[in-house]
Amino acid sequence: MAIVPKFVIGNWKMQARHEHGLKLARDVARGIKDTPLPEHLHTIICPPFTQLDGVHQALEDEGLPYEQLSMGAQDCYPASSGPFTGDISAPMIKDLGARYVILGHSERRQNHGETDAIIRQKVKAATAAGITPIVCIGEHLAERNEGRAASVLATQIEGSLTRGFRGILAYEPVWAIGSGITPSTEELQRKLTLIRALLPMRLMTDDIRVPVLYGGSVTSVQAPSIMSIEAVDGVLVGSASLEAQSFLDIIGAAAEATTPQPSS
Ligand code: PGA
Repeated sequence: MAIVPKFVIGNWKMQARHEHGLKLARDVARGIKDTPLPEHLHTIICPPFTQLDGVHQALEDEGLPYEQLSMGAQDCYPASSGPFTGDISAPMIKDLGARYVILGHSERRQNHGETDAIIRQKVKAATAAGITPIVCIGEHLAERNEGRAASVLATQIEGSLTRGFRGILAYEPVWAIGSGITPSTEELQRKLTLIRALLPMRLMTDDIRVPVLYGGSVTSVQAPSIMSIEAVDGVLVGSASLEAQSFLDIIGAAAEATTPQPSS
């Protein structure tokens, strides 16, 4: 059976100014060097645009293979260039060393009015530039409480992914982000199983195994139980990725969950 890669992704959001960001990137790289990761565990840090160049340089200086630690951006524009004041394109982030890009985060959906159709355009742009999209989906609390989570997730998958999507999907219930609340193991297992069932319909194939991550208030305390859920291929971490040790602890928990246990 093909080995499914696992991911730990840190989303710094609009946080970590220049010196802090460089130190954070270096400290994470050094921590990973000290405790090498299992082969199929990938870690990715996603700094703000202004930090991409410096962080990329810092990671290059540390000399870790990119399979162990690489860098992503937090957004990109659908067009590759043009008169779009203030926007940044996928080829531009690629120039600065980004291999991944987070798209459709609920903060972008909410604060910038991003629709599924816009996100799908961005997915196309990232893919065309050779950047792996990390697409976020997730329901609001009211939608969950009204029993509408399944239809919201189905609409987001249908609308924001391309046919034959080759990227990563992150299930991030909006009510779990920054709230300190995480779904129960049963709820996560149920939601991720649902997402996996919906994917082949959108992708029009059973042959692509899209990694599905969980995000929302992940800390080193919850990480071991979240990573032990069979349907979870990794975590997308916000606040806890802003401090090297807490992020490294989450990476450690993921490494443990990813390392095959000797059979007794
Ligand atoms: P959080 O953010 O870990 O701070 O809840 C997660 C995210 O928004 O990706």
